[in-house]
Amino acid sequence: MHEYDMGNTDMNANHTAIPQALISALQQARHVVVFTGAGVSAESGVPTFRDAQTGLWERFDAEELATTQAFLNDKELVWGWYEWRRMQVMRAQPNPAHLSIAALASLVPRLTVITQNVDDLHERAGSTQVLHLHGSLLNPRCFDCGQAWAAPSAIPDEPAGGRRLSPPICLHCGGAIRPGVVWFGEELPVRELRRAYASAKDCDLLFSIGTSSLVYPAAEIPNLAKQAGAKIIQINPDKTPLDAGATWSLRGPAGVVLPDLLIAAFPEVGIRR
Ligand code: OAD
Repeated sequence: MHEYDMGNTDMNANHTAIPQALISALQQARHVVVFTGAGVSAESGVPTFRDAQTGLWERFDAEELATTQAFLNDKELVWGWYEWRRMQVMRAQPNPAHLSIAALASLVPRLTVITQNVDDLHERAGSTQVLHLHGSLLNPRCFDCGQAWAAPSAIPDEPAGGRRLSPPICLHCGGAIRPGVVWFGEELPVRELRRAYASAKDCDLLFSIGTSSLVYPAAEIPNLAKQAGAKIIQINPDKTPLDAGATWSLRGPAGVVLPDLLIAAFPEVGIRR
């Protein structure tokens, strides 16, 4: 018997009741896809992009920070901002949503985790072979030659806090090191996207968790799964464009809903909070 400690979750937090048909679908699923967005890391203290007031794109201009042109215009501004975000992630810990998703891997016959997130909280919770569609804050590379750059793992006392920082210089070609994330206008990594599409078309159950379902092509993934006949479970405190297509929408924080769902669907495995 496995025992999973999900940490402390707020037992009194409200979320919509979990329908029995959803629990049965999870118990019987052959291949489950978990598709995540920034909301899955929100309870770890990593800001989302579009939540009112706290979302990064509510406070910062994506045009000035998240495009190739932005980097060419002002490398210090862009590098400093992404280093600040990398420090936030390094200080953060996986929350019960990440832990539940990692636990799910041994509870269903096959699990594929696809994320839009550029943090490593799924991996630190124990998920393996996570498909990162939007790259990673932890894998910077040379802007010119693409050579990987080993980011220091030490966490400075003070986060960069949006301060301007000169990007390091590539040891191979002398080019500037850039963040390892996908910027607006750039292609998604081909291998990850191909595998994500294939998994979506193959699965019989797809979770869409903590994403606004606004950014394409990633937002196409639940639609592909639905067209191929899969049931769609959405977990999000707010409405999204996926509401219309989801089989079930569970309103609530992922770090509360997911442990409750696992406890309901797999009572025999001794998941505890
Ligand atoms: P968004 O910020 O657009 O959406 C986050 C979603 O998470 C919202 O729908 C929130 O309601 C929901 N949310 C907030 N807290 C939650 C919680 N505790 N549990 C569950 N859901 C919660 O983030 P993404 O959809 O990930 O692109 O954004 C997609 C892409 O847009 C990102 O990958 C990023 C951004 O520009 C790149 O970096 C390339």
